[in-house]
Amino acid sequence: MSLTPIGESRQKVTVASLKEKKLRHEPITCLTAYDYSSARLVDEAAIDIVLVGDSLAQTMLGYENTLSVTIDEMLHHTKAVRRGVKHALLVADMPYGSYHTSPDEAVRNAARFVKEAGAEAVKLEGGEKRADLIRRIMDAEIPVAGHIGLTPQSVNVMGGFKVQGKTLNAIEQLMRDAVALDRAGVACIYLEGIPREVAAMITAEIETPTIGIGAGPDCDGQVLVFHDILSLTFAAPAKFVRRYGDAAAEIAHAVQAFRRDVLSRQYPSDAESYHLPKETRSALEAVLERKRAMRGR
Ligand code: KIV
Repeated sequence: MSLTPIGESRQKVTVASLKEKKLRHEPITCLTAYDYSSARLVDEAAIDIVLVGDSLAQTMLGYENTLSVTIDEMLHHTKAVRRGVKHALLVADMPYGSYHTSPDEAVRNAARFVKEAGAEAVKLEGGEKRADLIRRIMDAEIPVAGHIGLTPQSVNVMGGFKVQGKTLNAIEQLMRDAVALDRAGVACIYLEGIPREVAAMITAEIETPTIGIGAGPDCDGQVLVFHDILSLTFAAPAKFVRRYGDAAAEIAHAVQAFRRDVLSRQYPSDAESYHLPKETRSALEAVLERKRAMRGR
């Protein structure tokens, strides 16, 4: 099934076209995707950015948080998503530990996302303190997306997943972070888990498009996690999550119906079975008849 009407041509989304959208005050859309089928659905729905978020640690791999996911796991999922995306900008998260030890290793790892997995930009968490590293990665011709506010890879430093930027000092630091990333020339900045008022100030102050998650409606764009909008997370949603479907209920319903049909021998039906060609069937019946006759002697 394709959601793109036949004949409708869509422009490829690029880092430059995101910036043009901000200038035109056109909202930017972003969703996570972690495999081929979700990537196709998201891309064919004309979403601007497909993000292979390290949230796949929880949604796809069942880890407690994002800290454990490895670069090889992220590359594996990014390759699958690449095969499903035609028009959206494909951004991949650099996982915890892949850019924290040395700038050389960070550049090498960022290049793996482009070279091996086909990502068009990499995302890494942190503001002011990452600006030099981001410049190094961009010097290697790799666009970078920033991510500030509630940065899940800092969960142990933050003492939990808490809304950030609630004091004057914290607001000031967030502003410095956003301006540092803006000056470094990032493709976009994800603003996660910060008060609406702070996100609005940042968005008005910088030229880089901001993409909010739990950051209110005044960002240049919005991102949500694929599994959150479809109720596939087995947990109560965060305040900012809007659920647009109940895939868990749909899947549970289908799986239970299949089990019932197998147990009651309703599945498969004759129409769902393959049959022998007529001549083979007649020949087989003749062979079986001969065997029965020989046994009866
Ligand atoms: O990993 C992720 O899904 C993200 C988004 C929530 C921004 O980083």
